[in-house]
Amino acid sequence: MNFADSEVIAAILGKAGYGMAEEAGEADFILINTCAIRDNAEQRVRHRVRELRALQSRRQGLRVGVLGCMAERLQSRLMAEEDNVSFVCGPDAYRRLPEMLAQVRRGQKAAEVELSTTETYADIEPVRLAGNGISAYISIMRGCQNYCAYCVVPYTRGRERSRDPETIVRETRTLFGQGYREVTLLGQNVNSYRWEEVGFPELMDRVASIDPLLRVRFATSHPKDLSDRLLEVMASHPNICRCIHLPVQSGSNRMLKLMNRRYTVEWYLDRVAAIRRYMPDCSITTDVIAGFSTETLEDHEATLELFRKVRYDYAFMFKYSLREGTYAWKHLADDIPEEEKTRRLNEIIALQGEIALENNRKEVGREYEVLVEGESHRSKEQLFGRNSQNKVLVFDRGDAQTGTYRRVKVESCTAATLIGSLVQ
Ligand code: 5AD
Ligand code: SF4
Repeated sequence: MNFADSEVIAAILGKAGYGMAEEAGEADFILINTCAIRDNAEQRVRHRVRELRALQSRRQGLRVGVLGCMAERLQSRLMAEEDNVSFVCGPDAYRRLPEMLAQVRRGQKAAEVELSTTETYADIEPVRLAGNGISAYISIMRGCQNYCAYCVVPYTRGRERSRDPETIVRETRTLFGQGYREVTLLGQNVNSYRWEEVGFPELMDRVASIDPLLRVRFATSHPKDLSDRLLEVMASHPNICRCIHLPVQSGSNRMLKLMNRRYTVEWYLDRVAAIRRYMPDCSITTDVIAGFSTETLEDHEATLELFRKVRYDYAFMFKYSLREGTYAWKHLADDIPEEEKTRRLNEIIALQGEIALENNRKEVGREYEVLVEGESHRSKEQLFGRNSQNKVLVFDRGDAQTGTYRRVKVESCTAATLIGSLVQ
C-alpha cells in the first residue's frame, strides 16, 4: 500500500515540477513514506531520519519530510522529537505536498495530517517506480473501519472509501497497453469495496475481462467478508490468480474474540474449505500475531494446530506490538514477556518453514505457466517468474523473454523457491 502511495506522491510532485534525484546526496528533499503498524517499523524510520543528519550537515538546504501512517499518528510531535524533520504529511494530504515543499523552502515547518472521507487519488496516474514494466499495484479503496483491537490502521488511514470503478478499469487498460501483464488491486479490506452497485466481485469481473493475458491479483481480504460470490468470479476467470491472502491472526477463538476479528476458527476453516472447493489449486497465505494480550500456551498451541490444518503456502508472522490509541492499548494488558513472544513466534516460523518445504516438494514434477519477470538474483543465466499461485520459479533462461508467459516444469525446490526448466 505504501509502495502504491509513493507512486501517487511521485506523480503529484512530478506535476508540480519536481523530479527524482539519482541519489540522496543530490536531493533537495528527502521524503520518507512510513508504516506505523508495529513499533519496530517506526524505530527503523527514526533510525533512518537520524542517519540523514550527516548528509544534511554536508548539504545546505536539504530538507527531510516524514509521510504516511507514522506522520498521521505522531503529527507535529514527530518534528519536536526529531528536529531535523521539516514537514509531516498524512496519507490523505498528499495533494498538499507541493504547497508544503514551497513553505519548507521558505524556512518554515509544515504539518498536514487531516484525514478525509473521500480522498482516493482516483484521478492521479501513478508514476510507476518498480520499473519492471510487467506488474503494477492499483489502489482500489483506502482506509479501514474494522477496528481490530491491536491495530492502528483505522486511526492512521481513516474511514473506508472506494474508488470509482471506471477509473480503475481505465488505469488497468492503460497499463495493459503499456505492456504490463499483472495488476494487484489493493485495499485494507478489498471485500468491502463498493461503488454504487459495483461490489468487489463485480469489479474483479470487469478488470479480469480486460484481457485474458492480464493477470489479476488482490490484497487483502478479511475472512469475515470472503464471499462465495467472489470465489465464483475467481473460478470463472483463469487469469485471476489462484492465490488468496487471508490473514488469520490467531487460531484460538478466545483470542479472535478479544482481537475483535468477528469470525471464529470454524468460520475461517469453512472459508478455507470453500476456497479449495471452488479452486483446488489455489494457494493460501496468511498473517499471524504471536503473544497478543493474555495469550496462553493453549491459545498458542491452537494457532500451531490451525497452521497444521490449513498448511499455508506462505505466512507473514509477527510478535504483538502494543500501539497507542488502539482498543488493546486502552483496555488490555500487554502481558506476554518479550522473550516468550519471541519463543512463540519462532515456533510458528519453524512450523511454517517445514510446511512450506513439504508443500513445495509436492510441486516437483508439475508444470506451470509462468509470467517471466526478470533475471534471477543469483545468476545472469537464469530468469525468474511466478505462477498463478504466486510461487517464484527460477529456471535457465533459454529463449525466454521477460514479460511473456512460458511453461516451466518444476525439478527441485527450497522452502521459498521452485527450481525448474522451460518446457519447449
Ligand atoms: N502487532 C503485531 N502485528 C500487527 N499487525 C497489525 N497490527 C499489529 C500489531 N499491533 C499485523 C497483522 C496484520 C498485518 C498487516 O500486520 O497481522 O494483518
Ligand atoms: Fe488493521 Fe483489522 Fe483493518 Fe486489517 S482489518 S487494517 S488488521 S483494523
